[in-house]
Amino acid sequence: MKIYLDTANLDEIREAASWGILSGVTTNPSLMAKETGADFEDTIRTIAGLVDGPISAETVSEDADGMVAEGREYAAWHPNVIIKVPSTPAGLQAVHRLGQEGIRCNVTLIFNANQALMAALAGAFVVSPFIGRVDDMSEDGMELIREIAAIFEQDPDIHTRILAASIRHPRHVIESALAGAHIATCPFKVLRQGMKHPLTDRGMASFLADWKAREATMAVTAGAGV
Ligand code: E4P
Repeated sequence: MKIYLDTANLDEIREAASWGILSGVTTNPSLMAKETGADFEDTIRTIAGLVDGPISAETVSEDADGMVAEGREYAAWHPNVIIKVPSTPAGLQAVHRLGQEGIRCNVTLIFNANQALMAALAGAFVVSPFIGRVDDMSEDGMELIREIAAIFEQDPDIHTRILAASIRHPRHVIESALAGAHIATCPFKVLRQGMKHPLTDRGMASFLADWKAREATMAVTAGAGV
């Protein structure tokens, strides 16, 4: 299981990249909109300089010609740029056409296994099932990952990776991995939560306290010339 960061915030990307755990980054128009004043091209180019892996940049056209034109433009920014297109008939057409030019696509907004299968058959590099948003509809996001993984596994011609998106909490990451996802794209907050455990904090505090007590004892012993 690889971990991507789901953000367009450069400080978050720098911080997570410094931990040595990042294999890629996903952005979307809503995440870009949070970075007020940031230029899209500059942001994607900067991210590509910070993280050596696939960087998803999303198209905003609603027709295939527009998506293909945007895809060509974004792909020219850096070899690691992946073109994110929606799971619509126009999106499939764009994946197919961009694929013929060697441009890789991430098919996003996937909510059922049919969408994932068709994206894979069109030549998607990755598919992004939105598990948190599926859960929000009282359905089972993990079951969706399991279905996609089973379908992809039984066809040796499918090499599309499963990218679990719309991750809401650290258990989503673990459960996605166990369900067969290859990648989880996580908000920075979820990465931090995943590294937090009260027993780690308590263990650190007691190790440090014991070390200080040991040093104090040694200082007293040395002072007494023992
Ligand atoms: C994926 O690539 C999307 O950017 C993202 O995971 C959407 O998550 P959300 O449902 O929290 O907006």
